[in-house]
Amino acid sequence: MVLIRIPDENRKIDEPKEAAKYLSELGIVYEKWSSEYSVDGSSTQEEILSAYSKEVEDLKKSGGYTTADVINIDERTPGLDDMLNKFNKEHWHSEDEVRFTIAGRGIFHIHPENGPVIAVEVSRGDLLRVPSGTKHWFDLCEDRNIKAIRLFQDKSGWTPYYVHEGVEGQYQPICFGPTYIRH
Ligand SMILES: [Fe+2]
Repeated sequence: MVLIRIPDENRKIDEPKEAAKYLSELGIVYEKWSSEYSVDGSSTQEEILSAYSKEVEDLKKSGGYTTADVINIDERTPGLDDMLNKFNKEHWHSEDEVRFTIAGRGIFHIHPENGPVIAVEVSRGDLLRVPSGTKHWFDLCEDRNIKAIRLFQDKSGWTPYYVHEGVEGQYQPICFGPTYIRH
């Protein structure tokens, strides 16, 4: 269930169609994929890629993506803080950032060229396609876990180009989504 917050306008969008429309105006694709598949946080990469093979193949064709994998991050991930510190500083890539969330949740902040910074919270069933060149950063929610399919145009292209303007420090990476369970 996606939730968009626009902190500078004190505004929230939690209706999926409205969220997709807002994002599409920024060039970002949002889709809600069916959760009828019996994959969850305990499923293997092979099970997940197999369950979503049709959707993944369709995306590959439409976006020129060549490979897909599954990223799985939780408290037990070695070097978790170092990894998160690479994601949570404003940056952009020379290829699209495409993520489909299987389990867990996270928050993308997106900094459009013309318009306010938005926070997009994603959880199970949410596909987000952020076009190349778009400034963004990513944080986990407090429960610090996410499992997601990633698609790449060129796997070696996952290079973050950091902006170094400190914009991320102006926004609290706190999740508010309705599926968020506080511990
Ligand atoms: Fe990124």
